[in-house]
Amino acid sequence: MEKDKLTAVYPGTFDPLTNGHVSLVKRGLDIFDEIVVAVALHSPKKPLFSLQERVDMVQQAFDPFPQVTGEPFEGLLIDYVRTKKAKAILRGMRAVADFEYEFQMALMNRRLDRNIQTIFLMTDYKWLYISSTLIKDVARLGGDITGLVPQNVQLELLKKCRDEV
Ligand code: PNS
Repeated sequence: MEKDKLTAVYPGTFDPLTNGHVSLVKRGLDIFDEIVVAVALHSPKKPLFSLQERVDMVQQAFDPFPQVTGEPFEGLLIDYVRTKKAKAILRGMRAVADFEYEFQMALMNRRLDRNIQTIFLMTDYKWLYISSTLIKDVARLGGDITGLVPQNVQLELLKKCRDEV
């Protein structure tokens, strides 16, 4: 009998996806059979990109990985995770600064459903200093972001920055 696939949901705002996110998903595939990169409509951040734009960038970047899908979700994360029949929420942890926010979300999600576990992977040291926010800031001010985001994201970001002017 074939074993059930082990699925994780990797949620975030992904405004936009960075190479730190991509690295985390690739490492997550050492543990999980399938990862759903779930792009949130409801996030405390005010995104630069629309939900559809963020999802499109995720789907394009992970196109070579059939075990990874990119999808939008709205409402509570835990409800979405249940609909995916996933056992785990995957999150990255960069440094101590991330801890409190991540800890709060993990405990709240655990309170909402004790059968779904949050699994943290430490971000690879190469990506410890980057964040979507910092990358958008640098791009807006004309700095070079080559190598920090997937190529398709870099193009979209440059386009967006040009449109903003
Ligand atoms: O990496 P981010 O952008 O900080 O991700 C935050 C995200 C999207 C995971 C969080 O805001 C979220 O889960 N939003 C969906 C609504 C929800 O379930 N909120 C309660 C979380 S405990």
